[in-house]
Formats: sequence, structure tokens, C-alpha cells
Amino acid sequence: MTKQRLVMGNWKMHGSLASNQQLLEQLIAGLGSAHSHSDVVVCAPHPYLAQLQQILTNTAIQWGAQNLSEHTQGAFTGEVSPLMLKDFGCQWVLVGHSERRALYGETDADVLAKTVAALDAGLTPVVCVGETESEQAAGQTQAVILQQLQSILKLETALLSRIVVAYEPVWAIGTGKSATPEQAQAVHAYIRGLLARHHVAAVQVLYGGSVNAGNAADLFAMPDIDGALVGGASLKAADFLSIAAA
Ligand code: PGA
Repeated sequence: MTKQRLVMGNWKMHGSLASNQQLLEQLIAGLGSAHSHSDVVVCAPHPYLAQLQQILTNTAIQWGAQNLSEHTQGAFTGEVSPLMLKDFGCQWVLVGHSERRALYGETDADVLAKTVAALDAGLTPVVCVGETESEQAAGQTQAVILQQLQSILKLETALLSRIVVAYEPVWAIGTGKSATPEQAQAVHAYIRGLLARHHVAAVQVLYGGSVNAGNAADLFAMPDIDGALVGGASLKAADFLSIAAA
């Protein structure tokens, strides 16, 4: 495994100018003194991207957004285009997070369109997939993930090789009930197999869902887990730093 580990924070709809500044300064200081094994990215709400650009430029921390429009510009009130994200120095964007799918009705077709828009703009889309608790109980995990990734896997290899996949079982998000390393590994191996069939075995596959300072090392020890997408624990500098160092 020569791939660099990737640890991404998803701040969701949290933060303020003051609290972000404090968190980012602690992260910069912490990463500067420790020898992190990981590439570190934070994904903030859109209004704070300018602040991230100002504070994080020329540091080891990269930044991204949590959503984007599939359009580059036009009469789309309230939307934020991939070119605007680029303008503020984003290199990353989450696409199809389960909260967007469940609360804002994003479909697999929307996720495909947003993934393509991100790639066209030179951003790295982090495509989020994962089953609900009832789907898991019904033994449908692989079928759900195949459905969610199917159209994206049809992208040409040069594009597909530039995505990151985040496996986030919905039942593990914000619940404190992480998948076990073995459960996550089994799904990651399945996703890795799908990617390999499309000749993009090097795509990073992150795990997300109640990752914390206590379980990160065991998750990262699994052969097909290339890093983490971290929600709640990314808002606490000490926790996020120890995940990055795990
Ligand atoms: P959590 O969220 O770490 O708070 O479970 C993960 C996510 O939603 O990306």
C-alpha cells in the first residue's frame, strides 16, 4: 500500500469565524509539530471558504466544500458553482453525502452530475455512499452501493481515476456506533473490486461514520481503508489530530 492516507473533516453546518480560526490554528500547530501519516483536508460551509483560504494557504492542510451545483453559472438562486469553489482555493468537494440524499432529495443522477461538474472544474469529488440500517439488516449493503456507484463507474477511466469514494454507512453517522474494522473492510473490499473492474484500483476509499481518536487506528489497519471522513470529531482539534496521526 503506497497510497498516502487521507483524513478529511466534514464540519457540516457548524462553526463561526472565531471558532474556525481557533480550530484551524490548533490544527496547523498540531500538524506542524507531529509527523502526520496523512494528507489532511477540512470541508467547511460555503461562507467560510474565504477564511480557510486566508488561513490555510501555504500550510499542510487543504480545504474543500460540502456540496456544489452541477452548473458552472447562471440563474440558479442559492447555488454555488464548482468554479466559485476553485476561486476560493478548494481542491476537494463532498458529493452525495447521505444527509444531502436523505434531507435534500439528491438522487444518484444528481450525484453523477455533481461529480462530473467537480471533475470538469479540476476539483476532487469525494463521492459518498452507504446503506441505511434497514438496508443493512436486509442484507442489501452491496446492492445499495452498487446502485449508488453504478453510473459513476461508467465514467471514462481518466475521470474515474480522479475521484475518491467515501463509504459511510448511514447507521454509523453521528450515532457513536462505528462499523467494526472488519465490517468496513468487507465493504471496502467490495468497492475496491468494483473499481478494479473499471481499471482504477488506485482510487482512495475512505471510511466515515463515528470515526474517533479511539477507533481510527484499528480502521486504518485494514488493507482497503485508505483514510477517513470525520464529522463530529473533526470539530475538536485534539481528536482530529490524533485521527490524522493514528
Ligand atoms: P460522524 O459523521 O463522524 O459525526 O459520524 C461523518 C460524516 O457524516 O461524514
